[in-house]
Amino acid sequence: MRLAINIDHIATLRNARGGKEPDPIEAAKICEEAGAEGIVCHLREDRRHIKDEDVRALRRIVTTKLDLEMAAVDDVIRVALEVLPELATFVPERRQELTTEGGLDVRADRRHLEDVIRTFHENKIEVSLFVDPIREQIETSKEIGADMIEIHTGEYANARSEREQNEQFVRIQDAAKLAKSIGLGVNGGHGLNYANVSPIAAIREIDELSIGHAIISHSMFVGLETGVKEMLALIRT
Ligand code: PXP
Repeated sequence: MRLAINIDHIATLRNARGGKEPDPIEAAKICEEAGAEGIVCHLREDRRHIKDEDVRALRRIVTTKLDLEMAAVDDVIRVALEVLPELATFVPERRQELTTEGGLDVRADRRHLEDVIRTFHENKIEVSLFVDPIREQIETSKEIGADMIEIHTGEYANARSEREQNEQFVRIQDAAKLAKSIGLGVNGGHGLNYANVSPIAAIREIDELSIGHAIISHSMFVGLETGVKEMLALIRT
């Protein structure tokens, strides 16, 4: 199980004052030194946290794997093809949302996504599609050439009862098994934290977790290196 850390909210805090601190680049270095296997950033269409320059700077210093989360829109695709991350994770995006609210409708957007995946592959960028744990979305992801999926764990994380959480867990587990069985890589993420990550980390078919908000928040109190190491200890046991 690998851990990729989303550093968007280092940029959120920096942008609150419009200066240079805290620096997402410094954060990425600390995450990697603490053992993270990847750095994730989401270049949103409204550039509310990560900016184009951040992505370019991250490309220069990330030594593990840079995962650029993005909507499949021209403006951001242009940056991705310039910067050439190892991985692009496509997500749906709505301007008013606080954070990504659900998976892609791969079936509805199949033609467009298929074209974009082809272009990214021509540029040697692997592609992951962020999807809900739904059979049809996963099978279509494979059909249109995605290398992997990231299973949306938000409904599991936000479940209001133990029963609901168990149901969501089973959906994620089944989705991970299906994806692996048809040859897709399997990542997971959204809403995972120190309290809810362990069952998800125990799903053998999941290769990597993408976690941001919980680690960055906890790190305010314990420091980023410790925050990363605490999460690594949880997901590797
Ligand atoms: N994966 C995807 C596709 C996301 O959009 C996000 C949020 O940016 C994450 C993972 C990380 O979610 P969180 O910040 O809740 O850990």
